[in-house]
This record gives sequence, C-alpha cells and structure tokens, in this order.
Amino acid sequence: MSEPKMVQPPARFPTRPAAGTMTRGDFLWMGWSALAAFFAAGAAAGARYIFPNVIYEPSQIFNAGPAKDYDMGVSMKWLNTHRIWIIRIPTGIYAMWARCTHLGCTPNWFPDQDRFKCPCHGSNYTLAGDVIAGPAPIPLWRAKITLASTGDLIVDKGVLADQPPKRSQAPFFLTNSELGLS
Ligand code: FES
Repeated sequence: MSEPKMVQPPARFPTRPAAGTMTRGDFLWMGWSALAAFFAAGAAAGARYIFPNVIYEPSQIFNAGPAKDYDMGVSMKWLNTHRIWIIRIPTGIYAMWARCTHLGCTPNWFPDQDRFKCPCHGSNYTLAGDVIAGPAPIPLWRAKITLASTGDLIVDKGVLADQPPKRSQAPFFLTNSELGLS
C-alpha cells in the first residue's frame, strides 16, 4: 500500500487588509463622522439665531466739562473722541455734530474765514451750521446740551436738531443766563 500524499491546506484569506485599503468599518466611520459634522454645523447655525445681532457702540452722552472753560469760538476739545464741536457765541453755547450732511465726512473749521469746509466735496457751512456752498442738502446737526447741577455741560448726540427755531433754543442751546455766564 502506498503512502497517502500530503495535501497542502488551502491558502487562507488575509485577516488584515493591505495597507492603504479601506475596510467597511472605515467607510461607516467616515459616514457617521460626516453626518455628525453636518448636524453640528446646523445646530451652530440655529443657535446663532437665538442671540440678537447687537452692535455695542459707545454712549451718545458725555460730560463736556464746565461751561466756563469754553472761550468764545469753536472748541476742538471733543472733536477726536466724540466728533463734537462746542461753540460759544456772545449769547450762549451749543454743541454741533462734526459730520457733513452730504456723505458724512468731517468738516474743518477755518476761523479766518468764519466757516466750516468739508474736504470731501467742498460743502461750506456757517458758524451756525447753515449750508452756504456745496452739495450738502441740510445744515449741520446740533446735539442736545444741558447743564448738570455740577455746572458741567452734558451733551447727548442721540437727540439732534438742524433747523431754526428749534436748534436755537433748549435743549439745543444754552443761554448765558442759563449758564450763569456774562
Ligand atoms: S461729504 Fe461733505 S461735501 Fe460731500
């Protein structure tokens, strides 16, 4: 009797995929990750609508100091920080917003010519704020100005007037007698 032949077992399938190939598990994991990212982005966008779209601006009201500190003419003291000129004339004081009524540039004061001139398109204004040249459609705005019990001037840029007689009386103008000035 002849010896039985040795039979080689069939080659087994590899238990690990070759490097660089994707398994079914990898594919599912990627799918779930993408889905989770999609829902997270949707939730974040939804949460954004819950909170109001608020822009925090500096207060429109500021203390401009004692009225007696202002000499006759145009004070630039608050021009850079609040964009306001405090203007003292022989009869009283008012606060004018340094914003051209054409497109919003800041005019310059020329004391020798007694007028404000806008550098952008050439509008000219009088000391009172009236337009005397250029494309500006309306006078400069005056801001509300009141006297605190301490004697300080309080300016409120949130309340404005540009036309007489409104701009020439309280709360847009303080007379010398109201200010206790002579
Ligand atoms: S912005 Fe002042 S003239 Fe145009």
